[in-house]
Amino acid sequence: MKGRVRVSGAKNAVLPILAASLLASRGTSHIEDVPALLDVQIMMDTVAALGAVVERHGATVRVNAERLHSVEPPAELVRRMRASFVVAGPLLSRFGEATVALPGGCNIGPRPVDLHIKGFEAMGATAVIENGAVRLQAPPGGLRGARIYLDIPSVGATQNIMMAACLAKGLTVIENAAKEPENVDLANYLNKMGARVRGAGTDTIRVEGVEELHGAAHNVIPDRIEAGTYLIAGAVVGDGVYVENAVSQHVMSLIAKLEEAGVHIEDDVAGIRVWPAEQRRLRALDVKTNFYPAYPTDLQAQIVAGLTHSLGTSTVTETVFENRFMHVAELQRMGAEIHIEGRTAIIEGVEQLSGAQVTATDLRAGAALVIAGLMADGVTEVLGVHHIDRGYDNLVGKLQALGADIRRVED
Ligand code: EPZ
Repeated sequence: MKGRVRVSGAKNAVLPILAASLLASRGTSHIEDVPALLDVQIMMDTVAALGAVVERHGATVRVNAERLHSVEPPAELVRRMRASFVVAGPLLSRFGEATVALPGGCNIGPRPVDLHIKGFEAMGATAVIENGAVRLQAPPGGLRGARIYLDIPSVGATQNIMMAACLAKGLTVIENAAKEPENVDLANYLNKMGARVRGAGTDTIRVEGVEELHGAAHNVIPDRIEAGTYLIAGAVVGDGVYVENAVSQHVMSLIAKLEEAGVHIEDDVAGIRVWPAEQRRLRALDVKTNFYPAYPTDLQAQIVAGLTHSLGTSTVTETVFENRFMHVAELQRMGAEIHIEGRTAIIEGVEQLSGAQVTATDLRAGAALVIAGLMADGVTEVLGVHHIDRGYDNLVGKLQALGADIRRVED
């Protein structure tokens, strides 16, 4: 594969930003560079179901939340996508109440929301769990600012508490906050709405509550996980791939690992160029996922796929989620030599993968199986492409444009 591929707006920034648009009691928000993803559509439907006017024009989404008529998003939407749970903070902050279905687990782990609820309670809210939902009630006079320490730097909990704090009375300090770039992007949008959020991207976020927020225009940051997926593909099956619109600062941990594996990478103001490793075989690596800025769990499956053909023995340790190695069994069907010990996958590089019919179990595993299919000898059929549609805007079309022999067969 060679040529240019453009990265779309970040899914994991757009989702909380659409939730945050509910905080605006006047004016319209214009959100630019919104990717065409299933998960984005679910969040747009969730926000619209609460009474907001939501319109998409190409990559721009307009939201007007002046007149909402509910504080209870449809349970089936929240259960379909865990990220919808972050509408709780905005609703609780603006209306003093919210009833949100507890998101189901998903196949990468139980996915609890105890830290979100603990944060709301610290701000004076009561939380009652009944019929699979949590009913949240702010105290008389509304939420009060609080000092909150997160046991885990949870991305979602940081987002929900940050948004709840925007209209609370007084100062909220979130310690051990998640530092992901998507949270910084959310904070930037909130501040354009009139919020007073400081320190996003560091361990400690401070939010000074204000009276009211208004709609704002915002350009979403590029998707660093989509960018990383193409960088890994470019390293193992590319011949000079330029990932346009990628922000190298957001994927430093991946760049460091790929360079350690013998891959030459150059970044410029508009994107990142990646050359293939020697004979397109990565040198063996030890990778350990953790919270940002460490190596991201959302790029774990993809690097495991890339390392199946590496020189030597590699290890990949998943510390964020309990059960995020389901792609391993699928890769083994393609001839990969991997075994799992606890939270670590040990990968013996093989000469060649062979094509097979495999099944995606989550969106990142799906991308990993596509990379493996591009590496393999023969044809690979990846089932469960609806998982891929959740997180990748036109993956097949973008890979075809790079010269990959890939096509979508309606299943
Ligand atoms: C976000 O999920 C991302 N999703 C995930 O990306 C990403 O894998 C994850 O962060 C970690 O980076 C979105 O942004 C929409 P967490 P989130 O809360 O917020 C535990 C993808 O592929 N935890 O940071 O749900 C939890 O069980 C998706 O795009 C609690 O124990 O992740 C997990 O082990 C997959 N209690 C760890 O923290 C809580 O209250 C990290 O979860 C919350 C989380």
